[in-house]
Amino acid sequence: MTAEQTHIERETGKVLSRMGRKKGDLVPILQQLQQRLGYLPRQAMAEIARSLNIPEMDVYGVVTFYNQFRLTPPGRHSIRVCLGTACHMKGGYITLDAWKRRLDIGPGEITPDREFDLDTVACVGCCAMAPVTVVDDKAQGEVTPTRVDGILLPFQPEKEKEDGKDR
Ligand code: FES
Repeated sequence: MTAEQTHIERETGKVLSRMGRKKGDLVPILQQLQQRLGYLPRQAMAEIARSLNIPEMDVYGVVTFYNQFRLTPPGRHSIRVCLGTACHMKGGYITLDAWKRRLDIGPGEITPDREFDLDTVACVGCCAMAPVTVVDDKAQGEVTPTRVDGILLPFQPEKEKEDGKDR
């Protein structure tokens, strides 16, 4: 078993021992586990199904039904484009297109180097700054397409340093 699998097994066990073991507990179990792991790996879903004595397909069905759940690990940095009303009115979709082109991925996807994941959000409460993009936990205001490269700039040295390490 890899270190990652051991970690998943341990975290799943912790959540299951704290929560109930009824089918009705499935959603809160999944929520708690995603909070700890950042996503819901197949191994964890199988363990939950066994523990709740339900088919694995039922767990998978719930995970894919609610878009709050992730099946893949998140990127190191998250890019969330606000498409609430104010941001939409100020060109939120144009901003989203700019991020899609820059990162070459769509909403719900992750860059191949696992550096960034892209998604959309509803209003994040800073409409005066529309259109807003939340990068990790920081809201960036007035994100027009020309600002996208500048926002990513602080992350480049970090990435280049790590690329250099691999050489
Ligand atoms: S609509 Fe985007 S912050 Fe409110």
